[in-house]
Amino acid sequence: MSTDHHAGLEEVRAVSSSITLIEGQELRYRGINVQELAEHSTFEEVVYLLWYGRLPGKTELTRLTKEIKENSLIPLEVKEQINHIPRQAHPMAALRTLFSSLALYDHEADDNSHDAESRKSVRILARMPVLLTAFERHRKARAAVEPRSDLSLAANTLYMLHGEVPDEVAVKALDTALVLYAEHELNASTFAARVTAATEADMYSAITTALSTLKGALHGGANQKAMEMLLNIGDVDMVPEYIDQLLAKKQKIMGFGHRVYREGDPRVPILKKQAHDLVKAQGYEKYYEVADAIEKYVFEKKKLIPNIDFYSGLTFYALGFPTDMFTSVFAMARTAGWIAHVLEQRENNRLIRPRAEYTGPKDVPYISLEKR
Ligand SMILES: CC(C)(COP(=O)(O)OP(=O)(O)OC[C@H]1O[C@@H](n2cnc3c(N)ncnc32)[C@H](O)[C@@H]1OP(=O)(O)O)[C@@H](O)C(=O)NCCC(=O)NCCS
Repeated sequence: MSTDHHAGLEEVRAVSSSITLIEGQELRYRGINVQELAEHSTFEEVVYLLWYGRLPGKTELTRLTKEIKENSLIPLEVKEQINHIPRQAHPMAALRTLFSSLALYDHEADDNSHDAESRKSVRILARMPVLLTAFERHRKARAAVEPRSDLSLAANTLYMLHGEVPDEVAVKALDTALVLYAEHELNASTFAARVTAATEADMYSAITTALSTLKGALHGGANQKAMEMLLNIGDVDMVPEYIDQLLAKKQKIMGFGHRVYREGDPRVPILKKQAHDLVKAQGYEKYYEVADAIEKYVFEKKKLIPNIDFYSGLTFYALGFPTDMFTSVFAMARTAGWIAHVLEQRENNRLIRPRAEYTGPKDVPYISLEKR
């Protein structure tokens, strides 16, 4: 075995995939530029694209949208379980637990056949927004709002969160964020999902693995932390001092840097503009100005670029999501990509089992318990 290894698996091509291409500063789902998708497509269209490899025709899109709506209700047992989750639990911990519980009530959970996997894909995607909004309402001691059959996934999410039908601007803003978050090649949570799927574990197990991995601050947890930093700084004049302090303490600036994009994250310009429009309309442009000042200062000091998690936070904030829910909104979107990867892994499966470069001692003599 080679004595060198790739720390963090950087640059390692661990699987072959036809889902997402990242080339320089370009991101494509199934070959289509994500900026075009964000502008012209809905999340549901992108889900179809990711799962089936091409954009849907009208009938196909209508069918998928209908199936998502018809499959969004969660089992009564899981509804009751929500009431037993401590209100102070982090939404990602609640989502991970509740999502895992869904498997217990799905009679096809352990059926890895293609047809069963297709049906489960819809059920899993459709129920994510219901779980995360129902938990949010539970912790605010408010009754859960049932999804409506005439609303898109983005609209239903906002409807179930606030109990009011959202306006078109809000729906488009969330939908765009969902499109941009839907998929991102072999990021940590997707890789984790594929590792689980490759053992022939069921789809629920693979997605539970992914949710657990996304929770971390270096991955999905970054959008919450980035927004908290913005709120803490609060004023453009405070930016240099705050950032200097973080850097002096060798702390990471959340929402900055990227393993793959070193020059710029192609999702950022779209989210940045959207965040600006939203916060301006709501009268708190000041947070946008702080964000912009952080971006400029961090680049000046460290040449680091903002990633998707930096500006998505402003969008979610403007849409009324509490900051600690941001990662679960990311999870809801990324479920589309996780499922696409599980389905692809099934097509040509091989157990994913790398090796470690051993760095411990060798030939250590065994000493019996009495002599230790
Ligand atoms: C995303 C991330 C994990 C990528 O990590 P990585 O590929 O291992 O990055 P590297 O360690 O190669 O970074 C290169 C250098 O930039 C520094 N760096 C990277 N991101 C940084 C950040 N957000 N704040 C401060 N310094 C950072 C590293 O410490 C390293 O410095 P060094 O060479 O002096 O040790 C990392 O940028 C990070 O932790 N960002 C903050 C969390 C975040 O926003 N995550 C969401 C990602 S979409």
